[in-house]
Amino acid sequence: MHKDCERILISEKQLRSRVKEIAEKVDNLYQGKRPLCVGILKGGIIFYSDFIRHLTSPVELDFMAVSSYGGGTVSSGKLKIKKDLDKDVKGRDVIIIEDIIDSGFTLANLKTLLLERGAASVIIVTLLNKKGRREYDISPDFNCFDIENEFVIGYGLDYDEKYRSLPYIGILKREIYDK
Ligand code: IMP
Ligand code: MG
Repeated sequence: MHKDCERILISEKQLRSRVKEIAEKVDNLYQGKRPLCVGILKGGIIFYSDFIRHLTSPVELDFMAVSSYGGGTVSSGKLKIKKDLDKDVKGRDVIIIEDIIDSGFTLANLKTLLLERGAASVIIVTLLNKKGRREYDISPDFNCFDIENEFVIGYGLDYDEKYRSLPYIGILKREIYDK
């Protein structure tokens, strides 16, 4: 385990089996369709790449980079689009794939934006859900794990751009961000 981790919350094995289970459920809904999988950079990329490998319909891949955070652990309240999609979403069935839903600010704004751009449908798939932190009226259509209000790292998720490559989800030691 990484020295900055308090403990491992979700192991590699748990991630593998739950991601597969959720991806297969989503896959059932898109038979005969050609969904556009929108990954949210950067935190969502490892979940995204594991998730899409269980989809059997001919998916198209695209990415957006947004940020609501500065360097810290608290949402700053304004969504910035740092990289927009390459594809036009008009008439498309969109699957947004994101690492974590916290206040809900990011996903509430993104879903509204993609629907305004004319997407035929938008669903949200998340790896983690911090239900107790919700401030916006939005919930994922599919979520892998509900977690408590603790700052987590690994499997794509960072603190200050670190720890993304850890293969498990760990709880970050408080002393790392409470300095
Ligand atoms: P929201 O807009 O408040 O729902 O925040 C969502 C974004 O905050 C996610 O895409 C993450 O980038 C980031 N985030 C929230 N909680 C955590 C965490 O525990 N670890 C790492 N990033 C987090
Ligand atoms: Mg993110």
